[in-house]
Amino acid sequence: MVKLSVVFISFIALACASPHPRDALHVHERRDSVPNGFAHAGPAPDDHVLNLRLALVQNNIDGLHQKLYDVSKPKSASYGKHLSKAEVEALVAPSAETDTAVKNWLSANNIAYNTISPAGDWLGINMTVQQANTLFGAEFSNFKNQATGKQSVRTLSYSIPASLKGHIDFIHPTVAFPAKPLGGPKVVGKAKSQPKFSNVTANAAPASCNDQFTPSCAQELYGIPTTAATQSSNQLAVSGFIGQYASLSDLAVCSFILLAEWQASDLGLQLFLENLRPDLVGTTFSVELIDGGINNQNSPGDEADLDTQYTVSIASKVPTIFISVGSNNPDGISGFLDIVNYLETLNPVPNVLSTSYSFNEPELPFSIANSLCNAYAQLGARGTSILFSSGDGGVSGGQSGGCTEFVPTFPSTCPFITSIGATQNVNPEVSASFSSGGFSTLFAIPDYQSAAVESYLAGIGSQYAGLFNASGRAFPDVSAAGVNYIIAWMDEFWLVDGTSCSTPLTASIVSLLNDELISAGRAPLGFLNPLLYESPSAFTDITSGTNPGCNTNGFSAGAGWDPVTGVGSPIFSELRSVIGL
Ligand SMILES: *[C@@H]1O[C@H](CO)[C@@H](O)[C@H](O)[C@H]1NC(C)=O
Ligand SMILES: *[C@@H]1O[C@H](CO)[C@@H](O)[C@H](O)[C@H]1NC(C)=O
Ligand SMILES: *[C@@H]1O[C@H](CO)[C@@H](O)[C@H](O)[C@H]1NC(C)=O
Repeated sequence: MVKLSVVFISFIALACASPHPRDALHVHERRDSVPNGFAHAGPAPDDHVLNLRLALVQNNIDGLHQKLYDVSKPKSASYGKHLSKAEVEALVAPSAETDTAVKNWLSANNIAYNTISPAGDWLGINMTVQQANTLFGAEFSNFKNQATGKQSVRTLSYSIPASLKGHIDFIHPTVAFPAKPLGGPKVVGKAKSQPKFSNVTANAAPASCNDQFTPSCAQELYGIPTTAATQSSNQLAVSGFIGQYASLSDLAVCSFILLAEWQASDLGLQLFLENLRPDLVGTTFSVELIDGGINNQNSPGDEADLDTQYTVSIASKVPTIFISVGSNNPDGISGFLDIVNYLETLNPVPNVLSTSYSFNEPELPFSIANSLCNAYAQLGARGTSILFSSGDGGVSGGQSGGCTEFVPTFPSTCPFITSIGATQNVNPEVSASFSSGGFSTLFAIPDYQSAAVESYLAGIGSQYAGLFNASGRAFPDVSAAGVNYIIAWMDEFWLVDGTSCSTPLTASIVSLLNDELISAGRAPLGFLNPLLYESPSAFTDITSGTNPGCNTNGFSAGAGWDPVTGVGSPIFSELRSVIGL
């Protein structure tokens, strides 16, 4: 009797859940097993409230990709004619039919929704575990992160009504388990000596740069001008995650009087500038906080300090904004979705976005990685150059334990961003052994790099066959110095290593080129890769070094593109000339 009534009740629940009882649920996404590092910890309480997001199918994502390439290929008639906010939104908005189908279905099930993204392609919904299990044929359960003990509610599969196939792209977070972005440079130790500013000499970085790399070293090594940028509309954005925030006082030894004005101005950069760019003392960055990001001047982060010090000091006077993404991330992906949805609301968008955090690609289902990658394409189409560090674990990505296959990093594997690897030493410049590089297993190789990558692959023959996907998007795209960077952190000077160093430096170079372009009445560079791969003269080819990992020696740097240093390190004067400055 009891058993019967249970069956009856669940039958009613199922029947009420759908306006079309014959509109059968079909499995939409599933994983075969609980991902490594998590353990099943029992069913989630029926009344636990889930904050879910629906990604609606965008009406013309192929059109967005096409437009992105049209405005980014130097030989295209539309080169530099970036799209407006409205033009991008028209391509990624759901069709009227999709919008109506999904919203009618939500309403029929008494589910309220809010619109999360400006184009309306993301909807937020809240429901209990019990409702979600019924509506999506799911089994939301507790999963424990075995390292941190933190529990999250996820399901190994979910279904949607057959009639919504082609309208709902995916539901999140469901099969995407929490992934923590890897970031933060490796702290090598305290600086050997108090850094001292010396005037930059013409393109000749001294051997001392091998041991203590400063803004002057970067300027000498790559021929970066030291003159102040002039265009106030040019903007360089730096993002920080996992509670990292940039200290204004490390940047300038400013007094407590300035601390009170911290939220509006910026303090942590001044110690650095006083010692390394005295002409820029007083230059600040602005701060934007999302997902509960904090601006706490008492315990600055090494990554955030590094990123702001090597943008403000290299991109002399380019307006710089630090976007601090806090740890209150309702997006289920550590704020990576929230920051792009935020950037998409801006008009204009920043010209450059520098991010020194990444995930191991295997930790992300294709659905969320693809959605983020398409969001970067939207920003690229509007004229933002998006730079991500390639990672610091060689061919093992950020894998600490053993790996049986090479581990690519995301977003570096997204074809619509520029991935930055690391080099070391000044004469000659060679690759840094930690510089991650490799091949995506989610994203196919884009045309702009196919010739360069095929030539590399022909050179290695069957080496490492089976350890990587030779038809995947290959990274990094370019590289720059990333070893023994001096930073001011917690009122002292430290040395740090990482692709985290190379990324803000490269972003600053792009920003200075944008300053010149804007001042010449031209468009900023936007999505860089088509230009980079057809301009080998603008890079120093790095031909020595490897990136070991997964119990192998890793890939080798060599002539032409390679999965350690990309096409090479930038030569400012040659970049100017290939873009016609
Ligand atoms: C869902 O809950 C979140 C936070 O709990 C809230 O911010 C959001 O507005 C809610 N969404 C809807 C559609 O009620
Ligand atoms: C660097 O050069 C500038 C301009 O020539 C000069 O004013 C300044 O004193 C020099 N700084 C040092 C430390 O030599
Ligand atoms: C290799 O990459 C291609 C292109 O993204 C993909 O279709 C294929 O499934 C990948 N293969 C493996 C074994 O990951």
